[in-house]
Amino acid sequence: MRSIFNRGEAYFTGVGSRDHKRMLLGGKMSENEKKSKILVIHGPNLNMLGRREASFYGSSTLEEIDKEIEKTAQECGMIAETFQSNHEGELVEKIHQAMDGYDAVIINPAAYTHTSVAIRDAILMLEIPVIEVHLSNIYRREPFRHKSMIADVVAARVAGFGKEGYVMAVRAVANMTAK
Ligand code: DQA
Repeated sequence: MRSIFNRGEAYFTGVGSRDHKRMLLGGKMSENEKKSKILVIHGPNLNMLGRREASFYGSSTLEEIDKEIEKTAQECGMIAETFQSNHEGELVEKIHQAMDGYDAVIINPAAYTHTSVAIRDAILMLEIPVIEVHLSNIYRREPFRHKSMIADVVAARVAGFGKEGYVMAVRAVANMTAK
């Protein structure tokens, strides 16, 4: 089955998925292992949320946002892991890690959204749904923010809803990966 949510065939046929690999190994899965796992990646300067341009990004800290993401994932029967870095290479390496053991990625590459071919190329390797999130509506801002290097390689995008955008993305992933 093909879906608008995913570029590759593999995800929906199960090939390469965590469940498939475990089935091949003949192992039994614990309750936690059965849950879909989302990797949430935050790019540069997002560690400064709460102290950064509140009119665009709101007053919540990243820690508070991460807690909300984890809570929403739990409510949807999933597990969310969060990661933030100010370094492009570290973000790329984290995306590589999503190739094994995760069912979806939610990413706000922050300023790297507009510049990073490396992050785009890393996302292109993934066969799981990737959702792009921005706190602000990047299209209401400076022209250089209108261009996203990853817009055409992600499954879906959320922008302009503030921290609620992450909650929306987690819920959307729950629907996409429903087993
Ligand atoms: C952002 C928008 C980017 O343009 C900016 O560089 C960010 C945050 C957002 O979430 O609205 O750091 O990705």
